[in-house]
Amino acid sequence: MKVHKHDAIIIGAGGAGLMAALYASKGGADVAVVSKLYPTRSHTGTAQGGIGAALGNLDDDKPIYHTYDTIKGGDYLTDQAAAKILAENAVDAVIELEHMGLPFDRTSEQRISQRRFGGHTSNFGERLVRRACHAADRTGHMILQTLYQQCIKNEVKFFDEFQVVDMIVVDGVCAGVVAIELGTGEFHIFHGKASFFATGGWGRCWSVTSNAHALTGDGAAIALRRGVPLQDMEFFQFHPTGIYRMGILITEGVRGEGGVLVNSVGERFMERYAPSAKDLASRDVVSRAIYLETREGRSIKNRGYVHLDVRPQTVNRYFAEEGRDRADFIDDATIERKLPDILDFCRTYLGVDPVHEPMPVQPTAHYAMGGIPTNVEAEVIIDAAGAVMPGAYAAGETACVSVHGANRLGTNSLVDLVVFGRRGGMRIAEFVKGADWAALPSDAGGEIRAEFERIRGGSGGSRPGELRLRMQQTMMDNVGVFRTDETMQQGIDDLEELRERFYTDLHIDDKSRVFNTDLMEAWELGCLLDLADVTARTAIKRKESRGAHSREDYKARDDENYLAHSLVGHDGNLAAPSYAVNFDRKVDLSLWEEEIAQGVPEDQQKFRPKARVY
Ligand code: FUM
Repeated sequence: MKVHKHDAIIIGAGGAGLMAALYASKGGADVAVVSKLYPTRSHTGTAQGGIGAALGNLDDDKPIYHTYDTIKGGDYLTDQAAAKILAENAVDAVIELEHMGLPFDRTSEQRISQRRFGGHTSNFGERLVRRACHAADRTGHMILQTLYQQCIKNEVKFFDEFQVVDMIVVDGVCAGVVAIELGTGEFHIFHGKASFFATGGWGRCWSVTSNAHALTGDGAAIALRRGVPLQDMEFFQFHPTGIYRMGILITEGVRGEGGVLVNSVGERFMERYAPSAKDLASRDVVSRAIYLETREGRSIKNRGYVHLDVRPQTVNRYFAEEGRDRADFIDDATIERKLPDILDFCRTYLGVDPVHEPMPVQPTAHYAMGGIPTNVEAEVIIDAAGAVMPGAYAAGETACVSVHGANRLGTNSLVDLVVFGRRGGMRIAEFVKGADWAALPSDAGGEIRAEFERIRGGSGGSRPGELRLRMQQTMMDNVGVFRTDETMQQGIDDLEELRERFYTDLHIDDKSRVFNTDLMEAWELGCLLDLADVTARTAIKRKESRGAHSREDYKARDDENYLAHSLVGHDGNLAAPSYAVNFDRKVDLSLWEEEIAQGVPEDQQKFRPKARVY
């Protein structure tokens, strides 16, 4: 196998990977980015509505309010010190992106424009605030282009269409990764002092998802198989507004601009579920409301979707009722200018023009709050006490730092990428200066190569496509927005059967080596099965409802027993793994502890875990 040697190997070329590559290279490291996609096709490019930063350009805002919203939105599972770092670093990260050339929309004073998003408030929940900095509805796309240009300028080396399939761990140290060159089918070793996982999420475990085809959780699955326990895997966010049946994201920015959700009887139903925040309540609340409307027979045509209405006459009627300033009122041109991609998607895929008609939407599997546990310097940790695996780093959706707790606030994914990507890149630049090279084992890459030969040679009766559909359906039905012991057990049983067939009865048609997507998709299915499995197995053990984990058999949040992160480990046996789940990792509550130490009376403590009110 060809061996490439670089100080830092960055796996994935989305926002977190590019930011880490940029900062590691600025710090003097020799950096290689290994990406299964051409970098600007990474999933960060689909993030639409904005990146949150308390710039206060249009309303009174401060990082401490952003911190508070992040913690409250995460239903108090958020690590409080990490949330503070996120919110404080967001401000200069956004300004830095602007200075790099990112074309943010502008206010009339030529400042970065900001819009409303769910759960973004001023003065500790007092009123909604405009915090999401946006470039129309293409914010992630612009971040990706900007960072890629900066990396090229900084002479970062790119290995495009190389898919990382294994991690090399020698005596507890990460010594690099194994990748397949998709164009040739050849295996390559990337030997590095530091390996940084930025491979994104695994929404493809569910049948309706906003996630791209490539979002198969490779990095998290690889780390799990190599002894890194995954954290908080039971929490997976459903975004309330995916295009009906397709799942494609319709940004929360639509509701930020005044759009409202309406049921089959024409009612703006969020007024009942969240009288104060209404359509801009946090995502778990809105997704559950849509499901409840459906159950009670008020979805459109009884088909499980509702309408998202951003027509100017609707929006302006509600603005008038709310006494909003006339300057906020919208017209057709406002929608065309601020939401061009959304209009395009609806016109192209649905034949619906949102300027004149409401959009059919349903909740869509969107974002993994859990993942590879890290500290705030993006170093991978491997136990409840926070021990670090030397040489291993992670950030972005594949990681769990944890700033999102049980439910991520809209726009905080982009903040997470740039803030912790940057911190990780800086830490790597320092680390590689002093670290020795871990020697590669003589059989590096051997095991994963054998696994690929097993998949290629499979002559059973089970096609990956059929297994994938069954996995996605059981996850949607049984480990989705609402859960019970019974449904999750059904999910676990179904996954066990699918795994059995994957390892003993697989068949793929394409036996070639060049761009063998049949082979790669089969291997990715193995990753998805692992991640679906650990999601269901941790979810069934968390006997409470919190954030995105909503159990009908345990409706209350139980801080006494579950104000803790879950960790799930894998014994390395691919075909028949045994998993260990524990809740030993403490949540960082340092901001609340500071309030207690300062003698703040209990009813005035902002960071004390308390029930969320909307
Ligand atoms: O609704 C959106 O634009 C999505 C943003 C996010 O997931 O943060």
